[in-house]
Amino acid sequence: MPRLHVISASTRPTSAGRPLAAWIAELAAGREEFDTTLIDLGEVNLPFFDEPEHPSEGRYIHRHTKEWSATVAAADCFVFVMPMYNGGFTAPLKNAIDYLQKEWQGKPVGLISYSAGSSGGAPAVEMIQPVLRRVGLRSARRSLSIPGIEERLAGRYGNFVATAELAAQAAAVLDEVALLAAAERTAV
Ligand SMILES: Cc1cc2nc3c(=O)[nH]c(=O)nc-3n(C[C@H](O)[C@H](O)[C@H](O)COP(=O)(O)O)c2cc1C
Repeated sequence: MPRLHVISASTRPTSAGRPLAAWIAELAAGREEFDTTLIDLGEVNLPFFDEPEHPSEGRYIHRHTKEWSATVAAADCFVFVMPMYNGGFTAPLKNAIDYLQKEWQGKPVGLISYSAGSSGGAPAVEMIQPVLRRVGLRSARRSLSIPGIEERLAGRYGNFVATAELAAQAAAVLDEVALLAAAERTAV
């Protein structure tokens, strides 16, 4: 069974996306195709990239890098639940990607973005694509962008309030990640 890591990309203690990531992880965990783990970049708490060698060497001196490497290596596929800041994807997510290389390579990723405004972070999904390609992550063609994230929470730090339509759209992203992960397994 492919191991799916749902990565909640906001590092803010008051992240509005954290409940969304929890909901996505719950949806994934309810399916038979995945062994799902929720990873919170806020908890991972990586400093700015500080390894002396290029990540492609895989020779890490810092404990935080070794732990992040083990976390990412343990996954077969990912869903990034990512906020949009200032029209793009966020610095902590770029930093977390930059830390590693072979650990990402060839693995499928589904993208679920969100924002306060009406775009739902779709520009951030576009912006991250070349970065994903550079580290060999294989982006699912379907993505989901959720506008007005703050209005979708039950209370200030409450659960994500889903709709049937959003559940169907999230399921479509998970379907594609599952297909890509299965294809990857067959190819190995
Ligand atoms: C630094 C910063 C920049 C933001 N820029 C945008 C933006 O360009 N468009 C938008 O719709 N919302 C923007 N927002 C609002 C966020 O999308 C919204 O606060 C969301 O909750 C952030 O995700 P998080 O709470 O999980 O960190 C921005 C928020 C922050 C903190």
